[in-house]
Amino acid sequence: MKRKILILFSLTILFLLSLVTMGYGQENVKQSCITAKCHVNFGKAKFVHGPVAVGECISCHQLLPKEDHKFQPIKNVEEQCNKCHEPMAKKGTVHAPVAKGECAKCHDSHQSDRQFQLKKSSTSDLCFSCHPKNLITKKFTHGPAADGECLSCHLPHMSEKPQLLTKASNDLCFQCHTDFQESFAAAKNIHKPAGENCAQCHNPHSADARFLLASNTPDQCYTCHAAIQTSATKSTVKHVALDEEKKCLACHSPHTANHIKQLTEEPMALCLKCHDKSLVEKGNKLSDMKTLFDKNINWHGPIRERDCSGCHEVHGSQNFRLLTQTYPPEFYTPYASEKYELCFNCHQNTLAQDPTTMTLTGFRDGSRNLHYLHVNKKVKGRTCRACHETHASNNDRHVRELVPFGQWMLPVKFEKEHNGGKCSPGCHAPFSYKRNKSETRIEKTDEE
Ligand code: HEC
Ligand code: HEC
Ligand code: HEC
Ligand code: HEC
Ligand code: HEC
Ligand code: HEC
Ligand code: HEC
Ligand code: HEC
Ligand code: HEC
Ligand code: HEC
Ligand code: HEC
Ligand code: HEC
Ligand code: HEC
Repeated sequence: MKRKILILFSLTILFLLSLVTMGYGQENVKQSCITAKCHVNFGKAKFVHGPVAVGECISCHQLLPKEDHKFQPIKNVEEQCNKCHEPMAKKGTVHAPVAKGECAKCHDSHQSDRQFQLKKSSTSDLCFSCHPKNLITKKFTHGPAADGECLSCHLPHMSEKPQLLTKASNDLCFQCHTDFQESFAAAKNIHKPAGENCAQCHNPHSADARFLLASNTPDQCYTCHAAIQTSATKSTVKHVALDEEKKCLACHSPHTANHIKQLTEEPMALCLKCHDKSLVEKGNKLSDMKTLFDKNINWHGPIRERDCSGCHEVHGSQNFRLLTQTYPPEFYTPYASEKYELCFNCHQNTLAQDPTTMTLTGFRDGSRNLHYLHVNKKVKGRTCRACHETHASNNDRHVRELVPFGQWMLPVKFEKEHNGGKCSPGCHAPFSYKRNKSETRIEKTDEE
């Protein structure tokens, strides 16, 4: 009986003692932490951390035994946080300070004037406490980055996406640039890098060139299109169009297009947008191509396909008039078939090869090859332009109305006849030719 009472008594004492050491002790810490004299500012900021608000200093700070007001240094901050917060399941891209458990680099453990007890008064100040500010100090800035809205694109702790981004590449941009999302969905063709990642061309923060580009057009384009750079810069014949204000963008869209090759318009219409008048630049006088096509109904084969690029290398060329292959610039030139690679790319290179033929050309009088006669000469061979208009004419076989001869335009007056033809040009007396003659004589031309 006595024993029972003793046990009960000692238990009561122990219980009361524990109340004194634990409860009263804690009460003691609480009271002595935030007083009129000590730690006066704790709990006064706009956003106070839960445990601080209720004076639970000891949940993080432990008194060193037997020392007067000395606390154990907090070696592992994250461990502290994890006592109350669900530990972060770190996966994907983890922000370096988070990976290292440096929660207190961004969060004040006690309080601050920003939500989540963030240490700086603005998000960007927080970010720039570790990252270089020159991210947003280039000449042209992006709205949200310049406004310090870093978190409209980045997550602070970790992300499934690279670079801590909130969304994958283009979806990120489409959040705000909804017009782009619509035009991308509707477009027939999307420029490959634009379909993949806008940030390949645009800096999301700031840049030295307009529209947040790392460099101006065409330099930006050249970083990926080296072959075009070679044509444009190393060629001897340049297309003035590339040097005009819009540069490449006079013809191409960097984002989406409804035509092949990112062209802003149907290819032939595109050329005629500028070549709809005679152009005079750099000593060149070029015909009004639009009028030429409107007035001449018999278009050359490739042009019927509306393909100017079959003969012209628009970005620059080593050949006269931006031609893809050789073609003599002169009216007269000693004959060599290599000089006509352009025409012979599609036509038989034998048409002016032999003095007599029954097969190589239809331009013959009996067996006498009239192409040979006019073109294949050691000194003053006539070039094709003497008789043919390469783009379009109203005559059969693209024979031209007028021959450009110096400042003059000599009329050709070509007439197609049954099994032959007739011309009464300014160069010589009227002639006609018949293919079905067996043996023929033709008067000497003025030249021979
Ligand atoms: C959530 C955890 C946590 C709580 C709760 C907490 N602290 Fe702290 N405290 C820290 C951390 C982390 C540091 C940084 C020092 C370190 O690494 O040891 C710190 C540092 C301090 C310092 C050193 C000077 C300074 O401000 O950096 C004082 C003083 C301090 N705390 C007082 C208090 C008081 C008083 C309370 C209760 C009102 C309190 N702390 C509650 C985590 C906490
Ligand atoms: C003793 C428990 C405890 C510890 C330790 C602790 N917290 Fe907290 N924390 C809380 C409580 C309680 C809240 C308030 C919860 C609420 O308001 O929903 C809170 C709120 C927060 C908030 C604001 C959350 C919100 O949604 O508003 C942040 C941020 C935070 N804690 C970060 C930390 C960090 C960082 C650490 C480690 C340095 C830490 N906490 C340690 C208990 C703790
Ligand atoms: C690089 C700075 C940075 C670091 C380091 C950091 N945070 Fe945060 N944290 C933030 C920012 C910024 C927010 C506010 C997010 C928002 O506005 O949506 C935040 C929000 C929070 C929140 C409240 C919102 C939420 O996501 O639940 C908690 C809790 C939190 N952090 C805990 C932690 C913990 C724990 C650590 C350490 C493991 C940590 N943070 C490390 C910057 C940081
Ligand atoms: C405490 C310092 C610190 C703060 C504050 C900080 N960062 Fe970082 N951040 C780092 C470090 C360190 C790296 C890793 C740098 C490296 O690898 O070159 C990093 C990397 C990054 C990366 C690249 C992530 C990757 O792995 O691809 C992004 C994006 C980033 N931080 C954004 C932010 C943003 C946004 C903020 C503000 C909300 C911010 N940081 C605040 C230290 C910080
Ligand atoms: C419009 C969305 C957007 C905003 C707003 C934004 N960023 Fe970024 N940030 C990105 C993208 C996209 C990348 C990846 C860039 C890349 O792939 O080249 C990136 C990359 C980064 C990087 C790592 C690579 C680097 O360029 O050093 C850091 C650091 C960074 N951002 C910090 C910030 C900071 C700080 C802010 C706020 C001042 C901010 N970002 C605002 C979209 C954004
Ligand atoms: C949070 C919304 C937001 C996001 C996300 C966003 N932008 Fe923007 N962007 C803007 C705002 C706002 C402007 C300024 C609009 C203006 O001045 O007309 C802008 C302007 C631009 C401009 C410059 C326009 C000009 O006229 O100079 C470009 C280029 C651009 N953004 C590209 C991007 C790219 C690329 C991304 C994705 C990495 C992106 N934006 C993501 C809001 C956003
Ligand atoms: C191949 C490089 C490239 C890519 C990739 C690219 N852009 Fe552009 N972007 C440009 C160029 C060049 C301009 C300037 C256009 C001009 O001068 O008319 C521009 C202009 C802009 C503009 C401002 C002018 C306008 O049309 O409103 C915005 C906004 C823009 N881009 C958003 C985007 C978005 C969003 C993406 C991704 C879906 C993207 N860009 C992908 C090169 C690119
Ligand atoms: C980041 C690299 C990059 C930049 C910068 C870039 N491009 Fe491209 N471009 C590509 C890739 C990749 C393709 C697809 C090539 C392929 O499919 O063979 C392409 C294709 C093209 C095509 C052909 C499209 C087709 O249908 O075949 C054109 C035209 C073009 N780019 C023009 C431009 C112009 C103009 C610029 C500058 C405003 C530019 N590009 C800047 C990467 C780039
Ligand atoms: C006068 C209009 C015009 C201009 C200006 C122009 N291009 Fe083109 N580009 C075209 C046409 C037409 C094609 C398609 C014909 C072809 O395949 O050769 C083309 C094709 C391309 C291709 C695709 C080539 C291939 O092999 O598929 C690229 C890349 C390209 N251009 C880049 C550029 C760049 C970069 C610039 C600026 C330096 C530029 N272009 C300026 C008209 C133009
Ligand atoms: C943006 C306006 C523009 C567009 C579009 C354009 N050009 Fe040009 N082009 C010019 C100018 C300007 C000249 C120089 C005129 C001069 O030298 O008198 C020129 C010159 C030429 C020349 C003669 C080059 C020389 O120096 O001998 C040819 C051939 C030519 N362009 C073909 C084309 C073809 C084919 C297209 C369509 C793919 C095209 N152009 C689209 C503006 C343009
Ligand atoms: C079958 C090849 C071929 C095709 C296809 C072709 N061209 Fe030409 N182009 C030439 C030749 C050859 C010349 C040089 C003509 C001359 O000097 O006799 C030339 C010259 C030009 C010139 C300079 C005109 C002048 O007055 O000197 C322009 C402009 C031109 N072409 C534009 C175009 C356009 C636009 C197209 C498409 C609608 C086109 N070309 C299609 C072969 C072609
Ligand atoms: C890209 C291919 C191509 C090139 C280059 C080309 N042509 Fe043609 N040419 C054609 C096609 C296709 C026809 C139409 C044939 C048909 O209708 O059966 C044609 C028809 C002709 C005709 C009319 C012949 C006929 O059968 O109706 C003449 C003349 C002609 N070309 C001259 C030239 C001259 C001169 C050159 C060089 C300046 C040239 N061509 C360059 C493709 C080409
Ligand atoms: C003296 C004028 C003249 C010259 C120069 C000339 N042609 Fe012809 N060419 C003609 C005539 C006329 C015809 C029509 C023959 C017929 O079908 O009656 C013709 C027909 C053609 C044909 C149709 C196929 C054929 O041989 O009958 C081609 C292709 C052709 N020429 C290409 C050329 C080329 C390429 C050159 C320059 C190397 C050239 N021509 C120079 C007058 C000329």
